[in-house]
Amino acid sequence: MRRGLAEGASEPMLCPEYCMHSHTETSFNAADPLQARASNTDAADSPQRTTPLTIRSLAKMMRSGQRIACLTCYDATTARWLERAGIELLLVGDTAGEMVLGFPSTVHTPLDFLITLTAGVKRGAPSTLVMADMPFLSYQADDAEGVRNAGRFMTEGMADLVKVEADRSFAPLVARMSRAGIPVVAHIGSRPQLSKQQGGYSAAGKSCVDALALLDDARALVDAGAQLLLVEATPAEVAEQLVRESPVPVIGCGAGPACHGQVIVLQDLLGLTAWQPAFALPAIDFGPQLLAAARGWMHRVRANDLGPHPYTMSDAQRIAFAAAAEARTTHPAGSGGTT
Ligand code: KIV
Repeated sequence: MRRGLAEGASEPMLCPEYCMHSHTETSFNAADPLQARASNTDAADSPQRTTPLTIRSLAKMMRSGQRIACLTCYDATTARWLERAGIELLLVGDTAGEMVLGFPSTVHTPLDFLITLTAGVKRGAPSTLVMADMPFLSYQADDAEGVRNAGRFMTEGMADLVKVEADRSFAPLVARMSRAGIPVVAHIGSRPQLSKQQGGYSAAGKSCVDALALLDDARALVDAGAQLLLVEATPAEVAEQLVRESPVPVIGCGAGPACHGQVIVLQDLLGLTAWQPAFALPAIDFGPQLLAAARGWMHRVRANDLGPHPYTMSDAQRIAFAAAAEARTTHPAGSGGTT
């Protein structure tokens, strides 16, 4: 099951510190090449974030009832657009293994690769909170190794938050990470890194016993220091109770509308994936547009229709070069000229 939740963004936009949404903002930074294009397309709706978001911004949003919008993101260019859109939280998910590298599941996603992507996303969206996903076996084998790898996401990857798929048995690890100063997101509910073991993906908390276990997991992980919960693929009423009990923001991924925020995979939202879960329906059908652009380019290459050429020589250089080229053509190297 791949993730996310297409919950209607019906909440009113707000507000000072974390809100950089000024719907009348039109003063763009001319140094930003994206801004010119953004202003061409949707200037009136282009937000300008003045202060970088922090973990406190999310807690504030939770308290004031403003929903937190989160999307996966794996590169700097896309991150810049998503920051301009006003998305508060970007997840450099281990789904990069599927979306970027084409693996059949997230268990193949390499650690170093994900750290590199995380740094790219943060460079692209410096004012947005960036949550890095710890991939399979980067934290399960040994707590000390887990803390060090999480630290790499913060130092090399410039991550603001680090996410681990967890149940209560990971509470000691979460506590060690928290003690080290790492802001931890506990990913509970359906945990795709267990998919091989479980024979596939499945929803979590569908029985009363499982639902209560999920709530207990959440409590143990928050008690250990988790500053955010991400709950994947649960019945809506389970997430509702989780939200009721949780002192920290809960981001849902196919967990229903009660969550403080929602995350889906960007490629699902853009209609680029072959299939999307019901909670992550595409907002646009970008695939055919990409196809048309690629085909247009192919036709232009074949027709040698390349547009204006930007690089030129001065007249003097052109004349000198023409003479030299002529000489090379007349007496090619190795054609028996001077020795
Ligand atoms: O890796 C990922 O993209 C996730 C999600 C919750 C979508 O963990």
